[in-house]
Amino acid sequence: MWHNWINYQCNQTLYKVRKCSHTSKTHKPRCFQPPQMERNTFLAKKIFLLYFLLGLIFLGGITPVNAVVRCCKFEVKRASHTRLCTKKSMLTINGQFPGPTLYARKGGLIILEIVNLADQNITIHWHGVKMPRYPWSDGTDFVTQCPIRPGKSFRQRIILSDEEGTLWWHAHSDWSRNSVYGAIVILPPRRETYPFPKPHAHVPILLGEWWNDDVEQVFGKFLAGGGDPDVSDAFLINGQPGDLYPCSIQDTYKLRVEYGKRYLIKLVNAVMDNIMFFKIGGHNFTVVGTDGAYTKPIKTDYVAISPGQTIDLLLEADQPPSHYYMASRIYASGGEFVTIPTTATVEYIGNYTPPPSPLLPLFPEFDNSAASINFTNQLKSLANKNYPVDVPQSVDRTLFYTLSVNQLPCLKSSCLGTTRLLASVNNVSMVLPRTDILQAYYRGISGVYDSDFPDFPPSSFNYTEGVKAKEQSGSRFGTAVRVLEYNTTVEVVFQGTNLGGGVEHPMHLHGYSFYVVGSGLGNYDRVADPASYNLFDPPLMENIAVPRNGWTAIRFKANNPGVWYMHCHFERHVSWGMGMVFIVKDGDGPNEKMLPPPSDMPRC
Ligand code: C2O
Ligand code: CU
Repeated sequence: MWHNWINYQCNQTLYKVRKCSHTSKTHKPRCFQPPQMERNTFLAKKIFLLYFLLGLIFLGGITPVNAVVRCCKFEVKRASHTRLCTKKSMLTINGQFPGPTLYARKGGLIILEIVNLADQNITIHWHGVKMPRYPWSDGTDFVTQCPIRPGKSFRQRIILSDEEGTLWWHAHSDWSRNSVYGAIVILPPRRETYPFPKPHAHVPILLGEWWNDDVEQVFGKFLAGGGDPDVSDAFLINGQPGDLYPCSIQDTYKLRVEYGKRYLIKLVNAVMDNIMFFKIGGHNFTVVGTDGAYTKPIKTDYVAISPGQTIDLLLEADQPPSHYYMASRIYASGGEFVTIPTTATVEYIGNYTPPPSPLLPLFPEFDNSAASINFTNQLKSLANKNYPVDVPQSVDRTLFYTLSVNQLPCLKSSCLGTTRLLASVNNVSMVLPRTDILQAYYRGISGVYDSDFPDFPPSSFNYTEGVKAKEQSGSRFGTAVRVLEYNTTVEVVFQGTNLGGGVEHPMHLHGYSFYVVGSGLGNYDRVADPASYNLFDPPLMENIAVPRNGWTAIRFKANNPGVWYMHCHFERHVSWGMGMVFIVKDGDGPNEKMLPPPSDMPRC
């Protein structure tokens, strides 16, 4: 069914005239505005019907009733922004920081023209969008495409399928995602509803991070020195540090709420390297979704959210009208970090005297890993008649992947010490090639990658124990892929190791959602642990924090042909090589094959 979508072309004049602005006089769908705000007059309905009928005729009758194509433009450009009294020029989309929120409905298509007006290469990734049969638009540096060079443009097709709730987009080149990111809000299909009471409004809340220094310089220094990156200067909510940081009071993000109304908060963790706790003063809330899929409702007063993850939560404005904090603070088991929470305010509309300053909610301790794990373990799929699950009950292929921070001798003069840090999956540190893997695979170009990514670590040892032998701490560099036959059911067990000291790893898979069927602390026991798997209502995610010195098991069916990156979403870890690539082969059926690439793929 997607093949015809692939041929859909945005009308050029539409592009130029509308420029995705809010001021358009047409009723046509816009990307940066919630669909329910589109004009819905009798005339508009008639025009919609006309378009629909025309669509039926010209697209061969395959356009789903609710599907809408939105055409928009992202201009990548440098812009100046000031936080903490420090002004800097940074990479943005359309000058905005954070970037624009994209709105769509389930199963819709967004065609985005990315125009690179900046002075550096860029790729844009649609985090959590599966892109059925179309890895060409996944936007991953040297995995699915070569970067868009300055002065060039690339039209990406964001093909939504079963995702509903919140996803996000971000740059996928070096550390540019620090400032190039935004939310994707995916509403239920037209005339369908939510599996919970209808919200009055959608509120994207993006957790971010700010360095006073230029982030590319922080990145360069980090690579050269061989150690950890410089600690950032602030955490952000919707691009603002909040009033606990210097020079930030006036610009703090404010959510104005009406007493008695219900708000759907679309929380995104766009922080570079940390799991975050999030709370709202004086209010409990209900978690209803994560990673673009609904969950059983969880009533709670906090969440733990890892980088890459999204959480949908319902906030009822049912407390005495006043000002309350919405705040986020780091979870970290060690190292140096910013301890100040980032804040925004929830302000009730009405006549009352607000307190001079809202009460800061009490957070779990910085290193309270139980608080982080306990929240994540509560996530469950809805698993009912309207939202069924499809958990593989048996698997064709079991992969056991150790996640390690390794050390190698550092030989460069720029090194801060005698060793440098690296990170790996099964002791292979991923090196990005100079021609993208997808193109090499599609065109049969040899010498770009090896197909020997190991299914097990080179040796088995007590992964989570204290002191480790030198030989286990090594790692080899490689651009290696694991090839999967179409429709294989796969189980991946991620095993955290204590090499270089244990830490969590938020693992993210492109092109798929997976069921998180089990997790635990210590070493995975392949006899005992599967007995405790949840094969009934596990959460469907594309991002999961593997506990520190623990393990997590995921399952998915390899039914999306293409080339898909899997990596840790801690930016320092992926920069050190903690990633690998799956190639999922075509199936035999006509709808089981990768579609051909668009003509404007960026050249290497
Ligand atoms: Cu959020 Cu590979 O990305
Ligand atoms: Cu990691």
